[in-house]
Amino acid sequence: MTLNDFLKSKAYVLKSRPAGKPTPDDFEEIEVALPALEDGQILLEAKYISVDPYMRGRMSDQKSYVAPFEIGQPITGGVVARVMESRSSMFHPGDMVMGMLKWEDIQIAWATEVQKIDVELAPASYYLGLFGLTGLTAYFGMMRIAKPKPAETVVISGAAGAVGMVVGQIAKIMGCNVIGIAGSPSKQRFLTEELGFDYAFDYHDLQTLEENLHRAAPLGVDIYFDNVGGEVSDLILNYITHGARIVICGQIALYNDPKKAVGPYPQIALIKNSALMKGFIVSDYADSFHEGQLELIKWYKEGVLKGHETVIQGFDKLPETFISLFDGKNTGKMLIQV
Ligand SMILES: NC(=O)c1ccc[n+]([C@@H]2O[C@H](COP(=O)([O-])OP(=O)(O)OC[C@H]3O[C@@H](n4cnc5c(N)ncnc54)[C@H](OP(=O)(O)O)[C@@H]3O)[C@@H](O)[C@H]2O)c1
Repeated sequence: MTLNDFLKSKAYVLKSRPAGKPTPDDFEEIEVALPALEDGQILLEAKYISVDPYMRGRMSDQKSYVAPFEIGQPITGGVVARVMESRSSMFHPGDMVMGMLKWEDIQIAWATEVQKIDVELAPASYYLGLFGLTGLTAYFGMMRIAKPKPAETVVISGAAGAVGMVVGQIAKIMGCNVIGIAGSPSKQRFLTEELGFDYAFDYHDLQTLEENLHRAAPLGVDIYFDNVGGEVSDLILNYITHGARIVICGQIALYNDPKKAVGPYPQIALIKNSALMKGFIVSDYADSFHEGQLELIKWYKEGVLKGHETVIQGFDKLPETFISLFDGKNTGKMLIQV
């Protein structure tokens, strides 16, 4: 008789594909009876579950870099979990691990699906944010594409979110003039007072944003790290300098818009400035994740890189917490503590 002979778990599955912004009705909570462990499997208790804007794309039935979620099947994403029982020599009960797992409070995984994390070094949840995919996205977008040089001006949209807050801190480490764009006064204070950004501006009034940019970046924008897209990005394109790098990381302003986006045509600005505009997916750099993690951990230990999270309690809050990303409810990494 093993532990999971007695166990049932709760899971969230995709119930329907949203047309615009997702609603809680697009998700369904189900009960799952757990079978006995097979050799090579481990039983996991989820501690933290990540909610991320890219998951919106997986809710649609569209070809993308990652397969859509299937109707009736569990949502998957980043999870930090504790090993409850192991039939693998790789893990022991009590070990803390992370992996791309199901939105399920107790689950069975193959030992090869997860990696052990060092919770002596940093809080376990940081492996979903600062040292996880969002931190690595910031790291590779900056260090492999933007390649910042001291005294350059860096503008970041979605700056107070999980990726943006790390981008700006890396830009400061590299000696840049850093301007963050974020949607509330408290987020703007967080960026300047806690993270050391040089400026932080709101984006809801584009004219005010333009005036502020003019003042803070009189010589123009050398690097634009785009998490948001839409009109904010259109505006910033008017300010790029010769040799500018525009890193296309995300377009959250467009994710819930069912219409095909029509924007200005950036090609002339790119030609005139010999500028680079490059999209990327963090997994492009999967072979170098270890290197990126070591560098982020080094900066964290030196005290020049900080983590910040918005943690919501309760497995049952997963759908609404995910949806609230689109209302800007998070500062830093948004997580569920199970
Ligand atoms: N390329 C990759 O491999 C990769 C990897 C991870 C993430 N991403 C992308 O990077 C971006 C940031 O991801 P994240 O995980 O760090 O999320 P996040 O920034 O922590 O959370 C989303 C934030 O986006 C802002 N936002 C929401 N709707 C918006 C709108 N219509 N217009 C402008 N801002 C809006 C909100 O902040 P405000 O209060 O400031 O509006 C919200 O807090 C997303 O676009 C995501 O898809 C890409």
